[in-house]
Amino acid sequence: MAEWKAQPGPQTLALQIPDSVNEILYGGQRGGGKTDTGMVWMQEPIEVPRYRGLVIRKHASDLRDWVDRAMRMYQGLGVKQAYRPWELSFPSGAKIYTGHLKDDLSYTQWMGQEFQRMLIEELTQIPDEKRYSQLRASNRSTIPGLRAQTFATTNPGGVGHAWVRKRFVDPAPYYQIFYDRLGLRRVYIPAGIDNNPALTKNDPDYVKQLESLKEVDYDLWKAWRLGDWSIVAGQAFREWNPLMHISPVPPISLRDCKKFVCFDWGYSAWGVALWVAIAPENQYGVVRYYVYREMWMQKQEPREWARQFKLTQRIDGVKDIWLPHDCFNKEMGDSIADIFHRDGGMNVKQAATLQTNARHMRKAIMHASLADAIDGRPYLQMHPNCSMLAASIPELITDENDPEDIDTDGNDHGYDALTEGLMMEAPHLAKSGGIRTDRLLPQIKRNKIWSPGLMPGTYNAPDIMSAIAEYNTRPHHVLRPR
Ligand SMILES: Nc1ncnc2c1ncn2[C@@H]1O[C@H](COP(=O)(O)OP(=O)(O)OP(=O)(O)O)[C@@H](O)[C@H]1O
Ligand SMILES: [Mg+2]
Repeated sequence: MAEWKAQPGPQTLALQIPDSVNEILYGGQRGGGKTDTGMVWMQEPIEVPRYRGLVIRKHASDLRDWVDRAMRMYQGLGVKQAYRPWELSFPSGAKIYTGHLKDDLSYTQWMGQEFQRMLIEELTQIPDEKRYSQLRASNRSTIPGLRAQTFATTNPGGVGHAWVRKRFVDPAPYYQIFYDRLGLRRVYIPAGIDNNPALTKNDPDYVKQLESLKEVDYDLWKAWRLGDWSIVAGQAFREWNPLMHISPVPPISLRDCKKFVCFDWGYSAWGVALWVAIAPENQYGVVRYYVYREMWMQKQEPREWARQFKLTQRIDGVKDIWLPHDCFNKEMGDSIADIFHRDGGMNVKQAATLQTNARHMRKAIMHASLADAIDGRPYLQMHPNCSMLAASIPELITDENDPEDIDTDGNDHGYDALTEGLMMEAPHLAKSGGIRTDRLLPQIKRNKIWSPGLMPGTYNAPDIMSAIAEYNTRPHHVLRPR
């Protein structure tokens, strides 16, 4: 049987990145050979007896597929497999472990262990950078001569699209190894199906299949066929426009507005409080909502929140707060609402978060409030200081199984707080509806809101040619095509 050989182009390059680069993202088009490439990379150190690799995929079923493929590819290497969880072992004693991302805990279950190589398939399935960093905390090496490295693959799109793009794709030109602020090295290699003749020759219809997406889902076509990161496949609020929705100037003096706080509880996840002013009807009959303060806290007890509310009351006296139903749970004694009332002096009100269709209603309200009112400005605006909220809105994506809701794996805490408040204070908006731009224009122009993760002038990393020279001295095992 023939030997597996990297195909010319990105696949070859992806396997030639020196091991001094901490993280490699090999991503882009569907069918670009990403999974194969990751498999080849993963087995490179298998002659090192203490080598431990970890492969991460989203579901257990995806892992099974990976292991099946790997078993075929590695068959000439004396590989053996064990089950639950799947493990591959090699004659030297080297091992490749596998894991999936079922719940929050899966990100910390590897704590204290050492994996010199970590392969993460479909990286954008990891909702946020924090969880990725938790995983990567076990990517380290005490084996001299074997450096820790992460290899990730993905198509654009998915809940983690935004952070992955910010971390890997935006900071430097493709193929360019760059340093982040801490001096860690990364590189993004774009995968292309047109560079994978193994697939396109054998199955010329596959490209046509991808092309046919263009008619039905333009963004998905751009993500899968073109590997284009400028879109967010499935972005829930395409109408988000920082130029319109962020405004340093409130519609009218805040002193003349009714105000309320809306809140989403979180302890391990973010808890969020948003202060919203309702500007009275203007000469065009428009009532505008202005988020003028945000507070995000993690790992804080309800008492600390209550203390913060008390402090902010000194500034603007706002006491009305909308809380989701879970804040009224008394199973553990005092509810969160009780504490906010007693210690924070807040006037607590339960939002109708349990009402039938509440989640659909919230998404509808969000669309309606982002839409332009008759006077040419959106119903909802926020102060630039509410930057966490502003950053989270364009990153929300639609739930694959329910287009009228958002995918709750994303950073939806600000959204949850805001829509719960708007649902109670501005239900009329959902009925009048704004212009549902998302329904009208599939390719509405996206605003560039990404801030590069790098300081200018930090691209002085080793170039790709020295990378290639280094690679050629690395050991090569005989792998079988499948
Ligand atoms: N160098 C190679 N030699 C032989 N076959 C290859 C090579 N690279 C990729 N292939 C084959 O091309 C097909 C697609 O590759 P692969 O599954 O790795 O792509 P992918 O980018 O992971 O696709 P997807 O985006 O669907 O996950 C597979 O059958 C794979 O075995
Ligand atoms: Mg794949």
